[in-house]
Amino acid sequence: MATVVLKRTGDKMPLVGFGLWKVTKSSCADTVYEAIRAGYRLLDGAGDYGNEKEAGEGLRRALADGLVKREEIFVTSKLWNTFHKREHVAALAQKQLELWGIDYFDLFLVHFPVALQYVDPNHRYPPEWWGDDGKVHLQNTPMQETWEAMEALVDSGKAKNIGVSNCQGSIILDILRYARIEPQVLQVELHPYLTQEALVKLAKTLGLAITAYSSFGPQGYVELGIEKDVPSLLSVESVASIAAEHKKTPAQVLLRWATQRGIAVIPKSNSAARLAENLDCNSFNLTEDQIKSISTLNINLRLNDPSEIDPRLGIFA
Ligand SMILES: NC(=O)c1ccc[n+]([C@@H]2O[C@H](COP(=O)([O-])OP(=O)(O)OC[C@H]3O[C@@H](n4cnc5c(N)ncnc54)[C@H](OP(=O)(O)O)[C@@H]3O)[C@@H](O)[C@H]2O)c1
Repeated sequence: MATVVLKRTGDKMPLVGFGLWKVTKSSCADTVYEAIRAGYRLLDGAGDYGNEKEAGEGLRRALADGLVKREEIFVTSKLWNTFHKREHVAALAQKQLELWGIDYFDLFLVHFPVALQYVDPNHRYPPEWWGDDGKVHLQNTPMQETWEAMEALVDSGKAKNIGVSNCQGSIILDILRYARIEPQVLQVELHPYLTQEALVKLAKTLGLAITAYSSFGPQGYVELGIEKDVPSLLSVESVASIAAEHKKTPAQVLLRWATQRGIAVIPKSNSAARLAENLDCNSFNLTEDQIKSISTLNINLRLNDPSEIDPRLGIFA
């Protein structure tokens, strides 16, 4: 299996993983079990996805049945915005580990560079973006405090690697000014409608591994009813014709466009057939011209932008 070697630990992060956002809760344990049986070795979860317990059930069943050993599976999870204060980070990571039923994460990410007011998990979990009054409540916790608490997760063995998500260059460079343990992975929205070339270049320069999310662009947002009025990347002519040339599917071409450049992907699917199709995206090579031609689809279309929830959350402004 193709992997990305993480700089600090030398750990191997699979280039293709399984994304858990929107994986139906009632079938999540079975889907995760099937994903592992199909050959997935990376599970991308988050407290916010509300299915960590079910994903953990699927994982534990796969471990018990001998499909894999724990050290052969790379489990990623993420710290939610309401838990950025120093005293909350370890407690939440521990809670998330207990939901999964494992004793360490291979990778733990700060989900967004946004601190929101604490919500007691006994009151509401996952807390999402809003308080009980339906409003967003910001909290003045600087990233340095959160990052130091993330480093403590490595010290205590709760996380083997730590990283960030939804961060642009300026915040990454800021973290590097004080980091005792540098972020190892940057997980960001990245697809042919949002190619993020400058950010990719910066991450490569820094030796920061990139994981692309929402590789199928608007497709991942259709099920939420919040897709934009643009043609589906899965049917756009240039992608479809390149797929036909290689006798592959448009989905596989979209994934290969990233993985061939060393960018990891974490496609989500509730379907066993599509899940297998996505995992098989590294079995062919695009030409340089094909990669370039797909990149020309860029329109800087960002689908996951918290400023649409509240303009004070303009992290991509
Ligand atoms: N860090 C962050 O803030 C963040 C944000 C967003 C996502 N993520 C992570 O990235 C993962 C993937 O992103 P995403 O969920 O936005 O979307 P995605 O993987 O780009 O797209 C998923 C959508 O594509 C469909 N699909 C999957 N495989 C397909 C195929 N081979 N052919 C045609 N359609 C296919 C799925 O439908 P079916 O299920 O019906 O197959 C679903 O509607 C998430 O699950 C999550 O783990 C992270």
